[in-house]
Amino acid sequence: MCGIVGFTGTKQAAPILLDGLSKLEYRGYDSAGIAVRDGEKPAEVIKEKGKLKVLADMTNQGKAVKGTCGIGHTRWATHGEPSAVNAHPHSSDDGNVIGVHNGIIENYQEQREKLIKKGYEFKSQTDTEVAVKLVDYYYKKYSQDPIEAIARAMVRIRGSYALCVMFKDFPGEIYCARKDSPMIIGIADGESYVASDVPAILKYTRNVYYIGNMEIAKLEKGNVTFYNIDSEVIEKPLTEIKWDAESAEKGGYEHFMLKEIHEQPKVIRDTINSVVTDGKVHFDSVNLTDDEMKSIDQIYIVACGSAYHVGMDLQYVIESLTSLQVRVELASEFRYRDMSLRKNSLVIVISQSGETADTLAALRMAKDNGVKTLGIVNVVGSSIAREADNVFYTLAGPEISVATTKAYSCQLVAGYLLALQFAKAREEITDEHYNELLAEINTIPEKIEKILENKERLQWYSNKLINITDAFFIGRGIDYAIGLEGSLKLKEISYIHSEAYAAGELKHGPISLIEDGTIVLSVVTQTKLIEKTISNMVEVKSRGAKVMAVTTAGNYFLEDTAEFVCYIPQIEPLFAGSLSVVPLQLISYYVSIGKGFDVDKPRNLAKSVTVE
Ligand code: AGP
Repeated sequence: MCGIVGFTGTKQAAPILLDGLSKLEYRGYDSAGIAVRDGEKPAEVIKEKGKLKVLADMTNQGKAVKGTCGIGHTRWATHGEPSAVNAHPHSSDDGNVIGVHNGIIENYQEQREKLIKKGYEFKSQTDTEVAVKLVDYYYKKYSQDPIEAIARAMVRIRGSYALCVMFKDFPGEIYCARKDSPMIIGIADGESYVASDVPAILKYTRNVYYIGNMEIAKLEKGNVTFYNIDSEVIEKPLTEIKWDAESAEKGGYEHFMLKEIHEQPKVIRDTINSVVTDGKVHFDSVNLTDDEMKSIDQIYIVACGSAYHVGMDLQYVIESLTSLQVRVELASEFRYRDMSLRKNSLVIVISQSGETADTLAALRMAKDNGVKTLGIVNVVGSSIAREADNVFYTLAGPEISVATTKAYSCQLVAGYLLALQFAKAREEITDEHYNELLAEINTIPEKIEKILENKERLQWYSNKLINITDAFFIGRGIDYAIGLEGSLKLKEISYIHSEAYAAGELKHGPISLIEDGTIVLSVVTQTKLIEKTISNMVEVKSRGAKVMAVTTAGNYFLEDTAEFVCYIPQIEPLFAGSLSVVPLQLISYYVSIGKGFDVDKPRNLAKSVTVE
């Protein structure tokens, strides 16, 4: 996620901005910038690709930049490569308005075209430059009033934003607007602050205002005024922050993993909205035409770890919705296979980091064989994103915890949307069914919210697993794919040996391992296969296993077989994986912290495996 910081007061702004941005580095970024005003003089803008150190070196730790009012930004690229041009702050060509932004403006292309027709030019590929110039447009078109200009822009913009702007005609003032993206306003004696998150200002003040959605704030030295979208002044209570700096970085959560599990509804919504507008999927940004989708007759999904498990789930979804053949391959195997890839095939590589060595090598092998490639990637400008023929960016934001959760979930949903679009392009789905499925996909965020609201039950159950030495995850079809992910989560952060099996496979050997007290976690959401999986659960239970089940609400008969049942909300079975994985993420998390392990940095693991 991007980070924003702003300050106006009597002290020099630049060092405060750089210090505040350094407290937001945990959010992940690829470029940074500041804009500082010295009295009436035009703002000085310094921005560059790379880490904050680059900026600090360019400005002698901020000392070389004079002025007591300024804004700063660390950029996590969503639209446009990491570069100095795309770094924030962005400004109108005459410097009338300068701004920084955290969020995603979904209709930025549409607004950009309108502004070009009105004579605006654009230097960057970012949605932020569009927002800043839209404010500038309304400022000049109407009453040169900053609040009105911002309010008018907010009505036009669709998406999420924490926006901070400075106007040339209003030195010493910073104007902020918020919708969905985090923003906090701080105040001290003769000073005002704004930031994406508490850590950036905790050193200077604990007295903060929480700006609400569709609200605007005007920051002057030591004074803040709030307005609603109708430009009416509104009162806000002042709150004292009780957090320490460490816990503040995690947004109040004890660990990044728990924070990222809870971010899943929002980032899934962002990922859906990045390609879905007006009830239709638009793959302009993914750059896969309908004709290309029609011509493909084989899909290979290639990835590692959890990303591979996404592929294992998607194979069922794609094969259910289209006539396409799908093969899922481990990248470390695929890259060395002596195989001829079918001509009209598509290799989809899935990678959160976009830097996994085996996956990158598999991508290159596919390209060397002349096969079209598509990357589902979370990091803009990463190696896989740059080398794949087409890219579908997930908008999970930076994932700090080594064990992936929100990125995995965004990859799943990206795959659903791809499957849906393939079916439509190949005329293998009716409009009615297409609309039904798209509507179902849109319910995923709120249904995950419901699961998260009942996490205490899962914590209670997890405490019973803390001393186990083995666990089995079983399921059929998509449930098997989710079992694979649940098993990996448990083993990678709690160091408990665990294995996932297709439930029908148990009797071909693994069932010999079942003995009194063996834990078997079963995933039972695929309607057509429920009875089969229950019979496998009975098989292991009769041999002494303790069985737990994750199933869809309504399947209360499972309580006859399982000693603990976790229910997920009703959903189209094809997309149930997005819900059934969440209890398994939480169980692994609670078992790991119950064992006192460093859940965000498990032993022996790296966030991105950039070597073979
Ligand atoms: C999963 O929790 C692990 N972090 C690991 O399996 C990861 O999914 C795998 O290394 C692939 O990483 P990537 O998505 O960055 O390519």
